[in-house]
Amino acid sequence: MDIEKALKSRRSVNFFDQNYTISDEEINSILELANYTPSSMNLQPWKIIVVKSPDMKNKLKEACFNQAKVSEASCNFVVVADPHALEENIDDVLKSWVDLGYMSEETASNYKNMALGLYETQDSLKRKIFAVKNSSFYAMSLMYAAMAFGYETHPMDGFDENKVKNLLNLPENVIIPVIIACGKFKKDAVLLPRAFRRNVKKFSKII
Ligand SMILES: Cc1cc2nc3c(=O)[nH]c(=O)nc-3n(C[C@H](O)[C@H](O)[C@H](O)COP(=O)(O)O)c2cc1C
Repeated sequence: MDIEKALKSRRSVNFFDQNYTISDEEINSILELANYTPSSMNLQPWKIIVVKSPDMKNKLKEACFNQAKVSEASCNFVVVADPHALEENIDDVLKSWVDLGYMSEETASNYKNMALGLYETQDSLKRKIFAVKNSSFYAMSLMYAAMAFGYETHPMDGFDENKVKNLLNLPENVIIPVIIACGKFKKDAVLLPRAFRRNVKKFSKII
């Protein structure tokens, strides 16, 4: 599928084939494809919990204000933005840059200090925005990656974040920007036409 077609045909789908089981291999392939997502200083501050078992889907559905698609979809990607990921990932990122000849060890050390200054402390608003911003990029990639494997998706922020964190044993300091239901389109279901989009002239200007 080409990029224009993917952008024009992605929809938030409410009709999933409840009998379809997605394999763990396909889930991993979708995650791998989305892994080409860019991120601030390549720091990749996301974690993804894939909720696939019927029991966990039902529990997750309850935390998502009983949105039926959560249990009807084949799986749900819980996108987790982790403010601590900077400290967790930065040495690997910088080592890769040094190994690949992007920069010297000295420059890498300066970069580390720059990043720790730029993204402030782990509990700062700046750090949370950093984590959510980048994780949301990954989330969008996930939706298109799923399409590349013949799946439909539905992004959701209709959920009780604390309930989801408790259910998945997530630490208090992480943020869940979005949960994405993913599955096969239910045969013979009909989507309503795509809803209103603002005219681009209303939200853009070229200067
Ligand atoms: C971050 C985000 C959160 C959303 N949360 C929900 C949700 O909880 N439940 C729902 O039914 N739709 C949700 N939607 C879907 C939107 O309503 C949908 O994207 C919008 O109406 C446009 O439709 P389309 O995606 O088919 O173009 C969400 C979309 C986004 C991007």
